[in-house]
Amino acid sequence: AVEQTLSIIKPDAVSRNLIGEIVSRFEKAGLTIAAQRMVQLSRAQAEGFYAEHKGRPFFDGLVEFMVSGPVVVQVLSGENAILANRELMGATNPANAAPGTIRKDFAEAVDRNCVHGSDSPASAAREIAYFFASSDVIVR
Ligand code: CMP
Repeated sequence: AVEQTLSIIKPDAVSRNLIGEIVSRFEKAGLTIAAQRMVQLSRAQAEGFYAEHKGRPFFDGLVEFMVSGPVVVQVLSGENAILANRELMGATNPANAAPGTIRKDFAEAVDRNCVHGSDSPASAAREIAYFFASSDVIVR
């Protein structure tokens, strides 16, 4: 089925000028950009986005990292977009990511892993609504 998923190009990738390289991988894989904008997250926005991880040992560092510079938030659309994006990203920890994935090719560590992608239809719905109004999402 055609799905939408929320993607974030994180501060480490934005600061290293990797936006185009990463978007190119999505487009070459047949995903289309249905919404996209650059945003400097506030602490409250980052904490709310990652609320499910509150209490984990890496939570404070994760929030610190996500507000350390601008990110690109985007909605990707396509056939099985949620899984397709997760396959393009590779494993959360780049050390475990398969060759040819975004995280294997570009990311330096699990806490600077270049990209985020929704992990289920329920989280995609929540995460898309967290950043975009429905009128901002243009599915072609
Ligand atoms: P993401 O898909 O954005 O969701 C939560 C993030 O927490 C994850 O990617 C990682 O970048 C980050 N993180 C930092 N440290 C860890 C860790 N030890 N285990 C899992 N995720 C971590």
